[in-house]
Amino acid sequence: MTGRRVLARLRERGVAARAASRSSEWRFDWSEPGTWDTVLEGAGSVYLVQNDADPRTGEFVERAVALGVERIVQLSARGVDVPGYFEGVEGDPSHLRSEEAVKAGGLEWTVLRPGWFAQNFDEGFLTDGLSTGVLRIPAGDGAAAWIDAEDIAAVAVAALTEPGHHGRTYELSGPRALTVAEAVAEISAVLGRPIRYEAVPAEEYVAELVEQGWPKEGAQELVSALSAIRRGQEAETAPGVREALGREPRDFSAYVAAAFAGEAVRS
Ligand SMILES: NC(=O)c1ccc[n+]([C@@H]2O[C@H](COP(=O)([O-])OP(=O)(O)OC[C@H]3O[C@@H](n4cnc5c(N)ncnc54)[C@H](OP(=O)(O)O)[C@@H]3O)[C@@H](O)[C@H]2O)c1
Repeated sequence: MTGRRVLARLRERGVAARAASRSSEWRFDWSEPGTWDTVLEGAGSVYLVQNDADPRTGEFVERAVALGVERIVQLSARGVDVPGYFEGVEGDPSHLRSEEAVKAGGLEWTVLRPGWFAQNFDEGFLTDGLSTGVLRIPAGDGAAAWIDAEDIAAVAVAALTEPGHHGRTYELSGPRALTVAEAVAEISAVLGRPIRYEAVPAEEYVAELVEQGWPKEGAQELVSALSAIRRGQEAETAPGVREALGREPRDFSAYVAAAFAGEAVRS
């Protein structure tokens, strides 16, 4: 959700940039190290989004350094340094281990720690619920200060192209917290059709996802991540957008207008 936005913003600024994923022109696959060099050769800076299922950040950073990359901006996640933030996760979350590898690599580095993305509603795993009119997830009555992926991309581009961001870890959130029910109500109002939120117990949700073909481990990871909303940890706002860009993050209503009413809202 962030990679294509980072790319678009870089190109708008006239910065030469390569997309690097399994479906991009320059094919890059985390699980095939043989594809890494092609995207790294000649690159001065890298925007790194780990593969959560199989993070290989240490190996990748070593290769990037060997090929002359000087700067790395890593997409991590909020709460990764807070013990117990993700219910049921023992030991360090993989994002934190990736952060350590990025910081140890000897490059200029910036870490982005966003909370839950607003774009999960129109591009991510919440889209199905909105289509059926009933969004069922195990988030209880908890709220999140949903961050707009456009803001994450704006911070990433600043860190990739400007001085002053080396050694910074930006905690990123939107400007206010909304419960899932409140978020859904805003979307429902813009779409002009009823959509409701139904809180489901975690075990029931895991069973449903597994029935739909999800690997059990992946379903449990999603539930752990959602526990941070249910337990109120994602409701607190974070200062990273202001620190990095000198402006406030965009409000959830602006995201809803852009995503669901077809209006282009760009900062
Ligand atoms: N979603 C959230 O609310 C949220 C919040 C905080 C942090 N995060 C973190 O943000 C990161 C991205 O999450 P997301 O929700 O944006 O994921 P996403 O929408 O699934 O995006 C993942 C991207 O990675 C590419 N990709 C997947 N497997 C790949 C592979 N083996 N090799 C190369 N590229 C691969 C995909 O493109 P191709 O299919 O073309 O390869 C896709 O563009 C994750 O680390 C997640 O933990 C997410």
